[in-house]
Amino acid sequence: MKMILTLILFLSSFLFALSGEEVFDKKCAACHSYYIPQSQLLSNFLEHNNTALNLKAPTLNQLSFAFKEKIGNKREDAEAQKINIEVFLADYLDHPDKSKGVVSKKITKYFETMPSMKGKVSEEEIEALASYIYDYSEKMIIQHSVKRYSMEEALQIAKKEGKIVLIEGYIPFCPWCIKMDREVMVNEKVKEVLNKDFVYTKANLLIAKLPLGMKILGTPSFYFIDSDGKTILDMVEGYGTVDEFLLLLQSIKQKAKH
Ligand code: HEC
Repeated sequence: MKMILTLILFLSSFLFALSGEEVFDKKCAACHSYYIPQSQLLSNFLEHNNTALNLKAPTLNQLSFAFKEKIGNKREDAEAQKINIEVFLADYLDHPDKSKGVVSKKITKYFETMPSMKGKVSEEEIEALASYIYDYSEKMIIQHSVKRYSMEEALQIAKKEGKIVLIEGYIPFCPWCIKMDREVMVNEKVKEVLNKDFVYTKANLLIAKLPLGMKILGTPSFYFIDSDGKTILDMVEGYGTVDEFLLLLQSIKQKAKH
């Protein structure tokens, strides 16, 4: 009997766990939009004074990136940082004040200070929101980039389908790696080219070993292997804009034998 009760309690803790997504949808989404590609956001804020998208507040993705970068210590583990975000949110929802905000002032200058939500969001809801907002940016990068394979899968698929392996080397928290993923790897043209002729994998260069004895370069870096799995086509270091990266992919295609 005791066991059954424990089991029921255990299961109900899942059933009644608050979903950060639902809380956000009900209490925040009226002002804060969901994902909008970074290129559109930059153009909207930096070139059109927010007249292109007429946003009411920073997007959820902007909150997510800013929180991860600026609240607490980003090198701590995720759980510790989520707790710091919870504390920040609890304070901001009660006492909003733009000068305390962590989103770039180049963006928040287009908005009035957020109205206080004192008493409208419970502690549990804030906890769920902190976790949801923290996880959102990485989820969006994965959802909006081309499919990512493991190194082994990538080498196999490339051989089978006659494609080029692209290994994107990164280290956690490297700002230019994040910029590359956020602005370039989610670009529609880049995705089209990658989908057609490449197989994409990411390697954390702090722990991963590159195939073919390739030397590790600064991050982000891009390592291209031909579909035979044996020929290194190129190794390139550094961030590139969408146009620069498209040119690079073009030049790699010309070097490939197959
Ligand atoms: C009525 C519109 C509105 C609602 C509803 C709203 N916000 Fe905001 N929020 C804003 C605006 C406008 C800003 C930008 C100005 C500012 O920073 O105060 C903002 C800014 C913020 C910031 C500060 C960003 C920074 O620079 O660090 C946080 C945090 C935030 N909102 C969280 C939330 C959460 C979480 C919810 C839901 C529980 C929510 N907001 C609901 C309008 C709103």
